[in-house]
Amino acid sequence: MSANITSVLKESRVFPPSNEFVGHTLVNEAERHRLCEWAASDFEGFWAAQAESLHWFYKWDKVLDWSNAPHAKWFTGGLINASYNCLDRHLTTARKNKAAIIWEGEPGDTKTLTYQQLHHQVCKFANGLKQLGIQKGDRVTIYMPMTPEAAIAMLACARIGAVHSVIFGGFSAEAVADRNNDAKAKLVITADIGWRRGNVIPLKQNVDAALEKSPTVEKVIVFNRARNTGVHMKPGRDIWWHDLMSDVSANCPAEHLDSEHPLFILYTSGSTGKPKGVLHTTGGYMLGASLTHKWVFDIKDDDVYWCTADVGWVTGHSYIVYGPLANGSTVVMYEGAPNHPKEDRFWDIVEKYRVTVLYTAPTAIRAFIKWGDEHPKKHDLSSLRLLGSVGEPINPEAWMWYHEVIGGGRCPIVDTWWQTETGAIMIAPLPGAVPTKPGSATKPLPGIFAEVVDKEGKVVPANSGGFLVVKKPWPSMMRTIYGDDQRFKDTYWSNYPGIYFTADGARQDEDGYIWVMGRVDDVLNVSGHRLSTMEVESALVNHPKVAEAAVVGRPDDLKGEAICCFVTLKQGNAPSDSLKADLKAHVAKEIGALARPDEIKFTDTLPKTRSGKIMRRLLRDIAANREGAQDTTTLEDYGVLAKLRADEE
Ligand code: WT7
Repeated sequence: MSANITSVLKESRVFPPSNEFVGHTLVNEAERHRLCEWAASDFEGFWAAQAESLHWFYKWDKVLDWSNAPHAKWFTGGLINASYNCLDRHLTTARKNKAAIIWEGEPGDTKTLTYQQLHHQVCKFANGLKQLGIQKGDRVTIYMPMTPEAAIAMLACARIGAVHSVIFGGFSAEAVADRNNDAKAKLVITADIGWRRGNVIPLKQNVDAALEKSPTVEKVIVFNRARNTGVHMKPGRDIWWHDLMSDVSANCPAEHLDSEHPLFILYTSGSTGKPKGVLHTTGGYMLGASLTHKWVFDIKDDDVYWCTADVGWVTGHSYIVYGPLANGSTVVMYEGAPNHPKEDRFWDIVEKYRVTVLYTAPTAIRAFIKWGDEHPKKHDLSSLRLLGSVGEPINPEAWMWYHEVIGGGRCPIVDTWWQTETGAIMIAPLPGAVPTKPGSATKPLPGIFAEVVDKEGKVVPANSGGFLVVKKPWPSMMRTIYGDDQRFKDTYWSNYPGIYFTADGARQDEDGYIWVMGRVDDVLNVSGHRLSTMEVESALVNHPKVAEAAVVGRPDDLKGEAICCFVTLKQGNAPSDSLKADLKAHVAKEIGALARPDEIKFTDTLPKTRSGKIMRRLLRDIAANREGAQDTTTLEDYGVLAKLRADEE
């Protein structure tokens, strides 16, 4: 059992909502109670009332169509546009000249766009997309650094009904090619480079390499981030962003799209080697993102809200772009690393922009702890009023540090559990209504029916472990896996018919609080990023010298999980340190730097059961240096185990 889980089991501290929050939040305890009851007694009426907060060109005929489960249709017949909800509707209000995005580049350059200015840019860029032949329903890949242009590209796609697929800038050319092909993308939007910790990420170069293998892509738009990198522009295919924008009209009415029109595809790792294209549609997703952003962060008009995620992940989609902009919030966006040029970069930004709400990840918090309190202590963090956490279970030590050192003991912490598939936060405290416990995401939000069940689907008694499931559909749920509906049904809906399987293990305590323990499938959580062991394994066996590979996670103080690989070599190849380095570089090239293995162990054979299944649990114990308490009588070759253990010495 990892240190994290042990400390979570012992945790008993409770933090009631602070006086600054009680009575001053959008949702107080009584209101939360009312909302939960309402959703339980009149599910559709509840969601219909919430959906009034969005702008609809036509209000739906039916709130929910679940007749074709697990395929939900929300707000059927409704007409809506995500870009209109994020931009146009603010232009007739005092928010017109409010900062929508305050951006800071890693080198220190800055840019602020008001809602009016953002709208102007999005309209022009949307016309640019049309000029290049992009039509409603076409797929567009966005592979961009964290600049406002990434958000502009997303919103422009949404405006004309093109379906974006944002790929995190840390992914490799191979990964970009795979995703282009799976989505049959027609266009790629990228930049010459991105900045990360002072280094250049050669985005355009990666796109060039990817396009040799992705024939569906016809055009590439290149944002000029660095101005002097001399990237190659292929005539007839590649267009500079600024050239495209120089000659387009800023008049681009938002398309009236069906509520179920696809808004985006976002690839995420599952338990096979092939990433899943999670498909989200418009009306329900926009409701989930905007409503939860408002509720959980208790957003007020004068907040300066900063989510430190990258737009390449779902957190960036829902809580940098669609949720906050739909709510007319001021969003801080930062391009680079938290320790560049120094370890106080985040706190410098908080002080500089007087950030009030900060949403970040446990892996970042653990890095800050390691770097030392002197960095935050150098800065005035008194503007902060609320702190959020997402991506993995937050260990109570990190929670307490976040609460005390960053929040000065004043700021509630909202630990938010959700997934790429859920589109929006599902389990989290509402800061004025729910007392928090360090390490627990607390309770499902109103309208969300999450429970912890056993193998048969029976709710488990308090404090017993089980599987986290969601019993009723919700508006921002994924609709399918793009191009693989069978996998959608098999992965999420086959364990319990009609019930959504999250693949997370959890327990519910005597107060009904949910404590998420982590994945029960072969998905790793490395620094808050999802990675399938199979993806890393297939990258490894792609290497000419590798015969077989098994990849497992090992608890890591900083990253949550580290990537540990057991590798058997093809005959005639000898283990060596240089080959280890080679294999690590190979995986990084195949998938991206985020998948670079932390450890490679060479072995002559892998431990397998008689039926040939790799004994992962055993490998996990070995990787974590744990004495295997489990029964190993099914081991085909005890010698393998002994040898692997000996290698530890
Ligand atoms: C997986 C989803 C949700 C956006 C970022 C990650 C883990 C996420 C928490 C949390 C415990 C969490 C789960 C989940 N997870 N947030 N607050 N407490 N675990 O999205 O890449 O789709 O990963 O992240 O294991 O299944 P994702």
